[in-house]
Amino acid sequence: MVKICCIGAGYVGGPTMAVIALKSPAVEVVVVDISVARINAWNSDQLPIYEPGLDDVVKQCRGRNLFFSTDVEKHVCEANIIFVSVNTPTKTRGLGAGKAADLTYWESAARMIADVSKSDKIVVEKSTVPVKTAEAIEKILTHNSKGINYQILSNPEFLAEGTAIQDLFKPDRVLIGGRETPEGRKAVQALKDVYAQWVPEERILTTNLWSAELSKLAANAFLAQRISSVNAISALCEATGANITEVAYSVGKDSRIGPKFLNASVGFGGSCFQKDILNLVYICECNGLSEVANYWKQVIKINDYQKSRFVNRVVSSMFNTVSGKKIAVLGFAFKKDTGDTRETPAIDVCKGLLGDKATISIYDPQVTEDQIQRDLAMNKFDWDHPIHLQPLSPTAFTQVAVTWDAYEATKGAHGVCILTEWDEFKDLDFQKIYDSMHKPAFLFDGRNVVDVEKLRAIGFIVYAIGKPLDPWLKDMPAVA
Ligand code: UDX
Ligand code: UDX
Ligand code: ADP
Repeated sequence: MVKICCIGAGYVGGPTMAVIALKSPAVEVVVVDISVARINAWNSDQLPIYEPGLDDVVKQCRGRNLFFSTDVEKHVCEANIIFVSVNTPTKTRGLGAGKAADLTYWESAARMIADVSKSDKIVVEKSTVPVKTAEAIEKILTHNSKGINYQILSNPEFLAEGTAIQDLFKPDRVLIGGRETPEGRKAVQALKDVYAQWVPEERILTTNLWSAELSKLAANAFLAQRISSVNAISALCEATGANITEVAYSVGKDSRIGPKFLNASVGFGGSCFQKDILNLVYICECNGLSEVANYWKQVIKINDYQKSRFVNRVVSSMFNTVSGKKIAVLGFAFKKDTGDTRETPAIDVCKGLLGDKATISIYDPQVTEDQIQRDLAMNKFDWDHPIHLQPLSPTAFTQVAVTWDAYEATKGAHGVCILTEWDEFKDLDFQKIYDSMHKPAFLFDGRNVVDVEKLRAIGFIVYAIGKPLDPWLKDMPAVA
């Protein structure tokens, strides 16, 4: 029987292993984590992450061939295939601060595998890591090998949050990188056999280790670049009277470009895009490729620009000050259908508004007050200048309220900012919201979810990313 152990029960490890267990009943899957709270949650009715369809999958397999445990060493020791899906944040200090991946968790997982293993293992890189990490891990394992054979594979995960289960059921591709030796090929085949239970053979791609590692970074960089491209054009749309929705649609009709992932927004967020691009930038710089590094850096700079442009629009529209004004924030997660707030643009937008002394009232259907307060209290990590951190004054946070109701959040507000594209925001009773707000009532749509004309007819002054400007906004000072 194939026994799989996955180290790290997070956004990637949890859903991926649940789907492997569902689709391969003959395989035993144990997900382990050092966080007792996380494992307890995976074993309860309240899973630690919100992901449509996940509850169902977990319910079907948990206790059958899917287990969650904190007994990391026991399950690593018993497994044939070990997935490593631990966090790899950007380093905040020391060599490569602001760009390089912090591999502390990875290295400690590798050393633990070397310590406890008594039989041959296939070790699979699941978390996104810098190119050549597999080689480093191989060194740690083989130097401590006690005669055990380790095969390292890179099997990056391409699922997106909010659609993780669907993505895992029907992946565009599964990528497996391995050593081009007989043992390497055998290990690749063993992992391929697991996926082949439900993924068509032609969608399982096999490459060398470094191609697999680099493909993941490149894919995320390309995706983020599309968003920065469309966001850059959105600024020009506002300046010229073009409409970003029409432009993106026309551009996407070119089959060489394609229609997906061209929605202008207040900026991309999530745990991957910025981190992976910074990682790519660092690798380029280490290899003396400064032009290439600068090219990719620009994708993040445009993303930062888009967020500050949004804040400037809010402030300049409202007579150049939001001091003491209540601003409602609808949506805090980095995208709809997830409770994840890592790198969400809402953090920067809220901090920008707080910096201008606004009072903000936040509603998100999946993010807890605790999480929001933690996110806003965290020092902004300035990737471009990692040493200059500018904390907000402690009093700024007393101006943040979190509610469980959109109408409560918007009551008595001067302006509303939509920062996540939750479906329910489309169906809000905007007349009711308008009636409860100070006038003039402003609405800033950072996700292009509202019907602009309908809202203008109600009386709102509406700003929507990349859309022709409301006459009111045209008269306001230019946005830097
Ligand atoms: C991303 C990749 O899509 C996935 O393949 C990889 O494995 C992990 O990183 P994720 O971060 O979960 O997935 O979500 P994604 O749907 O890619 O969205 C990322 C950010 O871009 C979100 O903030 C989203 O709102 C934003 N976005 C996305 C846009 O602003 N416009 C778009 O057209 C698409
Ligand atoms: C381009 C656009 O494709 C077309 O839609 C527009 O109307 C005019 O400009 P063209 O310049 O004729 O057309 O050729 P295209 O096939 O786009 O190639 C442009 C250049 O890019 C060529 O030098 C080509 O060799 C190069 N290219 C194209 C690459 O280097 N790699 C590719 O993958 C594709
Ligand atoms: P991702 O989005 O990549 O899945 P997460 O941060 O959601 O990242 O999950 C990573 C998980 O890995 C966390 O739950 C963390 O506790 C766990 N983890 C980190 N290091 C180890 C380790 N050495 N052993 C077991 N679990 C670990």
